[in-house]
Amino acid sequence: MTEGNWIRTSILPQIAKKKLSTVYSTQQTVLPDPLTRDEVKNQIRLLCKEKNAVILAHYYQDDLIQDIAHFIGDSLELSRKAAETEAEVILFCGVHFMAETAKIICPDKKVIIPDMDAGCSLADECPEEDFKKFINKYPDHYVISYINCSAAVKAQSDLICTSSNAVDLVKRIPLNIPIIFAPDKNLGRWVEKQSGRKMKLWQGSCMVHETFSEESVIKLKLQHPKAEIIAHPECTDQLLDYSDFIGSTSKLLSHVQISPAEEFIVLTEPGIIHQMRIKEPKKKFFEVLGLDGCSCNSCPYMRLNTAEKVIKSLKELTPEIILDEEVQNKALRPIKKMLSLSK
Ligand code: 13P
Ligand code: SF4
Repeated sequence: MTEGNWIRTSILPQIAKKKLSTVYSTQQTVLPDPLTRDEVKNQIRLLCKEKNAVILAHYYQDDLIQDIAHFIGDSLELSRKAAETEAEVILFCGVHFMAETAKIICPDKKVIIPDMDAGCSLADECPEEDFKKFINKYPDHYVISYINCSAAVKAQSDLICTSSNAVDLVKRIPLNIPIIFAPDKNLGRWVEKQSGRKMKLWQGSCMVHETFSEESVIKLKLQHPKAEIIAHPECTDQLLDYSDFIGSTSKLLSHVQISPAEEFIVLTEPGIIHQMRIKEPKKKFFEVLGLDGCSCNSCPYMRLNTAEKVIKSLKELTPEIILDEEVQNKALRPIKKMLSLSK
């Protein structure tokens, strides 16, 4: 890779101030009778056949959605799957920025999401206009944005990364090129440590990973001294310091399969534990509670998606992700760059 590949490309002309328009239905699903899990699964699979739809689900979705999905993965794997699918419709069971990414990669496909309100605190904390002012202060910096951001922020970035490939991608940037990393300060700080690169960090954070309780980690470790503590890099420094292994959701999942440990204290959204139990039924997994013992360790956005909403989405093919064309085209470039660099 020559230095020319890392030239800042995002001194962009004004991006149209047009708001991203979305088709949003507020009606609630009314199921005739409570359906059994198998009936729900069968109904959804039939609808998928009828509509030529594929269901992509993130690991933080509830167990039933994970069991129904054609493919489950982390942000990077789901982007790759979106790029590969031949289905006409992608039903994205995850949060809005993930479905937007699928739409950017597959502009000719219909991308729907069970609940349009499934957002992300990281994306919310990085508004497009503020981001533009921030990056314009450092015109010589190369802009790397974590995939957890809006399409409008992606459109202003040079390269997108996920928690799976962030360290590797940052290490590839020539040392003489300064870097802006947005929007997650916790992931950014961890990447700085792993790569040895100092970066200008946007000060966003994940409301879920920031609220894991240190007390809960310590209690669990005292109860299960042989357990490994495994964490997502969106956690704070303070909690990452306790961790034996740090990685994206897919890396945490593969780690529990190769580690000789039999017990794990899991410092990320507990949805992933469903897959951990499927892959390693004999091992034990403990979820860390949120501050004051609350169950705010679950992502309130991810959990807006339900099987009932999946059925409704498939029947009506809404709510649909519709993006401004200019933003969509500009956001594709840094995503494509990421996909080509992280094969
Ligand atoms: P992963 O890419 O590791 O799945 O993370 C996505 C996310 O939103 C974590 O909060
Ligand atoms: Fe966003 Fe945090 Fe939810 Fe992930 S867990 S989708 S970063 S709010």
